[in-house]
Parts: sequence; structure tokens; C-alpha cells
Amino acid sequence: MSTGLPLLEDLPDVSGREVLVRADFNGPLGEGPGGEVVLTDDFRIRSALETLEWLHERGARITVCTHLGRPKGAVDPRFSLAPVRARLAELAPYAQLLENLRFSPGEQANDPAFVDELVAGKDAYVNDAFGVSHRPDASVVGPPSRLPSAAGRLLAREVSVLSGLLDEPARPFVAVVGGAKIGEKLGVLRSLARKVDTLVVGGGMSYTFLKALGHEVGESLLDERYLDSCRELLGGETEVLLPTDVVALAPGSTLHRGEAAPPGERTEVLGRDIGPGFEAVDIGPKTRARYAEVVAGARTVLWNGPMGVFEDERFTAGTRAVAEAVAACPGFTVVGGGDSVAAVNGYGLAGSIDHISTGGGASLELLELGDLPGLAALRAASNAPRRD
Ligand code: 3PG
Repeated sequence: MSTGLPLLEDLPDVSGREVLVRADFNGPLGEGPGGEVVLTDDFRIRSALETLEWLHERGARITVCTHLGRPKGAVDPRFSLAPVRARLAELAPYAQLLENLRFSPGEQANDPAFVDELVAGKDAYVNDAFGVSHRPDASVVGPPSRLPSAAGRLLAREVSVLSGLLDEPARPFVAVVGGAKIGEKLGVLRSLARKVDTLVVGGGMSYTFLKALGHEVGESLLDERYLDSCRELLGGETEVLLPTDVVALAPGSTLHRGEAAPPGERTEVLGRDIGPGFEAVDIGPKTRARYAEVVAGARTVLWNGPMGVFEDERFTAGTRAVAEAVAACPGFTVVGGGDSVAAVNGYGLAGSIDHISTGGGASLELLELGDLPGLAALRAASNAPRRD
């Protein structure tokens, strides 16, 4: 489908020209064997290679810029790009990399003087940073008003797939939405409810829905501010599926992310009423089977957000069941959001998903609002194809 964005082909000849590429290499950081900071997942760097190679093959001189983490406009050695630089040098040795954009206060303030600095000496700009295109930051929205500009391959594909989901999905269209914070997902839940045939809800936010139905949720995550919004969604025309059983930590037991739970810890499978002291942290076996069945029958599936605290191996079954169902679904499948993407990668299922989005917040915002500041800026570039 046409996204209306200027593409690489819409740039003037880039041979011998200086091209600024905004990438999103905001990858997860961890500790290496010698205690050094390492990039634990290079998915976002690999995802930008198609664009970098396209430019390189045509003789462009490439400068890449990215943010990493959330430094507050000043140099913060914890967010040095050194680990990203090391990996980029292996994958795309021809590209220069600037220092973390968020070390400059002008980046997130969208300061025109910082945009001037970024575009100085540059002949063209490419945005391939889908993951940050929902932020009106200087490097995202500034350069298209100064330079011939284009969406990189990754950005163009993300927009085409995600907008296509909303425009013309094959039906039944099933969205599975999980995650802990209902406040962050309400907007997209409302928007998806207008588009999908079935909305499947799991994860920490599902307990606010259960409470809205009148169930007790014990110590499970609950955000009372959103009870009315949940009731509204449940009363709408679209079918909303909620867990019918859960796996809960028994009173006195706690979560153990990434480590084995000590002996004596108790978990229980409960129905929708979660007793005092119990904390539901995953969907139960009946819910797993039901959700897998609904996904299996879909012709389009969008999955965003885990079904439980899958980093604790006792509570990984719900997220794994959904990941396996999405991977096995013969329809068109899209997975977005850092945790769900980490889960499909961790379970070795990434190869069976049609599209894995590099954007968490960006993919949700595009699905909710239908546009992003970074995309609007590209469409306004002087070289963008004109619409009649
Ligand atoms: C992300 O990882 O979602 C993007 O890189 C955006 O990062 P931010 O939420 O810190 O702006």
C-alpha cells in the first residue's frame, strides 16, 4: 500500500553526497564477561542494514545518529554509544556514528539550533528510526524541513504493514493485547476495538478488567482509575475476551525474574475470583487453550504485550502459548512491543512471524492515531511526492 512517504528513490542522486540517517539503535544493554557494558540484542541495528546498504551501494557518505536510553540532555557515560558503535562497525563499517543524540539538550527540546547542527554539511536525510518516530525530537522532525528527505526501508515497511492492518485486514482480525500498565494501552485498545473482530486481553492489565466485571483480584495489579473505561470497552460491540482462570502467587510468595524460585514458594491456578493475598501473574490453562484457539482461527493477528510475568519461569506458559499460537497461525501475523518481541525471540519463534515491529510505543501510537510526528515531517519534505 502507498504510505504517502517519500522513499529512498525520491532522493536526488546520493553518489558522493553526505547523507544523515536517523536510526533507532536504542537496544537493551547488559554486562559483558569483564563487567563492560554490552548490547544484548542487535535486532534494531540489523533491521537498518537494508537502508544503509542501499545508500552505500549508491556511493553515499553515511552519518548515522541515534539515541540510547534516556539521558537527560547531558553526557552520561552509562548511555555511551560505545557498544552500539562496536556492533555497527562490524555490520556496516562504512557508516560514521554520532554520539548519543540525547546527550544534547536540543534533541528532545526540538531546538532549531540543534537541527542546524545536525544538518550542517549534509545533502540529504533518511529517517529509518521507526521506534522513535512518535517523538517530536529534533533529529526526527527537524531535518525534513531543511533537506531532501526519505523514509528508509525499515520505516516504510513498518508503516505499510501497521497501517495496512487498520485499512484492509483479512478477517477474522484478532488483536491480543497484554502488558502491565492499562493506562498506556487504553488508547490503542479503544482504537483496536473499532477495527478487530475479537480483542483478547491478558497480562497485568486484565485484572482491572476483571475488577470492572465485579470480581475480586486480591493482590493482583489494579488501576482503579480505569474501571469505567474497562466497563465501556466491555459494553461495546466488539467481543473482548478476558482470562477465565489465572496462575497466582500464593500469599507470602514472590516473583523471581530470571532466577529459580526458592523451595517452599507456592503458586495456584484460580478462577476469576482471586482471593485475599493472592497475586495473579499469568493466564491459566483454560485461558491459554481458549486464546490459542481464537488465534488459530484468525486470518490477521496483532500481538502486543505479554500475558504474564514471563521473565519468571513459573509464569511463562501464558506468553509462550500465545507466542506459539501466533507463530502457528496461517494468517498474517504481526508482533510489536519490546516484551512480546523478546518473548518470540526467546522461544525461537521469530522466523514464523510475518512482521516483527521494531517499535513499541511507536507501533501503538500509529495504531491508535494513524500517524506519527516523524511521518508527518517526512510527508512535508520538499521532495515528497505530491498528492492531488
Ligand atoms: C523505544 O525503545 O521505544 C524507542 O527507542 C523510544 O525510546 P523512548 O521511549 O526513550 O523515547
